[in-house]
Amino acid sequence: MESAAIIDTGNLTKQYGKQTAVKDLSFKVAEGEIFGFLGPNGAGKTTTILMLLGLTRPSAGYARVCGMDPLRDAREVKRIVGYLPENVGFYGDLNAFQSLHYIADLNGIPLRKRLERIGRSLETVGLTEHSQKKVGTFSRGMKQRLGIAEVLLKEPRVMILDEPTLGLDPEGALQLIELIQSLNRERKITVLISSHNLSQVQKISHKVGIMIKGAMVASGSIDSLAKASFGVADGGYSLEEIYMKYFQEG
Ligand SMILES: Nc1ncnc2c1ncn2[C@@H]1O[C@H](COP(=O)(O)OP(=O)(O)OP(=O)(O)O)[C@@H](O)[C@H]1O
Ligand SMILES: [Mg+2]
Repeated sequence: MESAAIIDTGNLTKQYGKQTAVKDLSFKVAEGEIFGFLGPNGAGKTTTILMLLGLTRPSAGYARVCGMDPLRDAREVKRIVGYLPENVGFYGDLNAFQSLHYIADLNGIPLRKRLERIGRSLETVGLTEHSQKKVGTFSRGMKQRLGIAEVLLKEPRVMILDEPTLGLDPEGALQLIELIQSLNRERKITVLISSHNLSQVQKISHKVGIMIKGAMVASGSIDSLAKASFGVADGGYSLEEIYMKYFQEG
């Protein structure tokens, strides 16, 4: 039996003036999956994510998260979805603990639960020792991990991560990718991750979707895409080879 769709879009479209950023997009992410959301710069990934979060209004079609409309059921959707934006912003003068405390407050996490959740989140991302350091002094990798800690505060069912490893060194990127994988495995968090790093996506994703010029040109397991592109599922094709094939055709 197919698991329930946690993310579901149908003919989702976003028009910015004359430009169509997302066009007739229909895809599903099942509960418990890691879905790698791929596509070149300007393909419409971030725009899609913003519609899933109710942060921008679709021009046509629908987006559903756990069966809810992100605009109509905005509060409930925000409660269950943790979002790490492309450019995470922090107040550089706050330390990591204060920063999480502030976010917990914004998210309405009751005081009695706050300290425990902050401690657990810091621990999970490996920042416990740096909790008293000002975020302004953090390296990019530490900031990204703090971003994940913020996401974890509300104990989300779904995480939407927009290029979380951008700008990280190879080791930092690998650590973050493994952290995302362990959160998926151990806490059963469904993950949608957009990234240009195809080998990382290949390492952790159960399914991928390739978006080009606002449309999803392929989606499914990496094996199924290899089969569709090259005729064999177990030919050892890398996601990069598959992606380039669609890219050249698109
Ligand atoms: N607020 C906006 N107003 C007008 N056009 C926009 C706006 N946001 C995005 N666009 C356009 O929509 C298209 C899709 O952009 P989007 O940011 O969704 O792409 P992306 O796939 O996330 O790209 P990247 O990989 O570079 O992050 C682009 O052509 C972009 O210029
Ligand atoms: Mg983007």
